[in-house]
This record gives sequence, structure tokens and C-alpha cells, in this order.
Amino acid sequence: MKRLLLTSLVASLILSVGSTAQAEESSTTEETEKQLMLGKRAFIRCVACHSLAEGEAHRTGPNLHGLFGATAGQKEGFAYSDALKNSTMEWNDENLRAWLLSPATVIPGNKMAFGGVPSEKELDALMAYLAEMTK
Ligand code: HEC
Repeated sequence: MKRLLLTSLVASLILSVGSTAQAEESSTTEETEKQLMLGKRAFIRCVACHSLAEGEAHRTGPNLHGLFGATAGQKEGFAYSDALKNSTMEWNDENLRAWLLSPATVIPGNKMAFGGVPSEKELDALMAYLAEMTK
């Protein structure tokens, strides 16, 4: 009897640990999905000038496929400003964030006619969206 009790206690413990882990996992997915939705909304600011998927045409701005880890101003077939082309900027998280916050400060003389994304929250979401959509 005692043994049976212990077994069922252990079993219910295992079950409850399992379901907590599952709940955590699904809330992480929910968080990610929420970020991506917000990021998609933030990208409305950019979509007139930038495409994201591989092989899509340049618009007023260059296509951004493969952005993370790339050197600035190197996409084939786009006429960059000298400022951007010669910047040797690497698009890592930190640089990209700074650029999107204030492009004119990060690379003076560039020709992206965009003032920047002033909201931290919107920037977070935009970064997550860009990372996902430019891979
Ligand atoms: C009015 C059009 C316009 C808007 C709006 C705009 N961009 Fe740009 N973007 C450009 C142009 C033009 C360049 C090239 C700048 C240069 O050559 O100096 C550029 C360059 C870039 C680059 C560098 C790409 C490379 O190949 O090095 C990134 C990254 C970028 N934009 C992201 C964004 C994001 C994200 C947004 C929205 C928050 C945005 N841009 C909004 C026109 C725009």
C-alpha cells in the first residue's frame, strides 16, 4: 500500500513537471509569434523601399536577404551611396540596431531617406522580424 502511494506520488510529480515544461515552451512560442507580428507591423515603415526574400527585386532601397553578418553596401545591382559602400560596416545586431535607430548618425551622408525607429519596443520586434525574414 505504502509502495503504491509512493509510486503514484512519483508519477504525479513527473506529470506535473512535464506539463510545466510544456506550458513554458508554448508561452515562448507565443512570445516569439507576438514579436514577429509586432515586427511585421513595424516593417510597414520599410516595405515601400525594401524587399526581404532571396532574389526579390531592389526597390528604392536594396533587397535585404542575408542581411545579418553581411558587410554594408555590397548587394549586386544596387547603386549605393559612397558613404554606405565605403563604410565597411558589418551588419551585426548592435550595428543594425544603431543604424535603424538613427541612420544619419551611424553612417553620415548615406542616402536612406528615413529618420529612424525611435521606440525600443518597436526596434526589438523589428530586429526579430528582420532576423527571421532575411535568413
Ligand atoms: C525611403 C526609402 C527607405 C526607407 C523607408 C527605408 N530604407 Fe533602408 N535603405 C534605403 C536606401 C536608399 C538605402 C541605401 C542607402 C545608401 O546607399 O546610402 C538603404 C539601406 C538600408 C540598409 C543597408 C543595406 C545594405 O545592403 O547594406 C538596411 C539594413 C536598411 N536600409 C534597412 C531598413 C529598414 C529596416 C527600414 C525600416 C525601418 C528602412 N531601411 C527604411 C531606403 C529606405
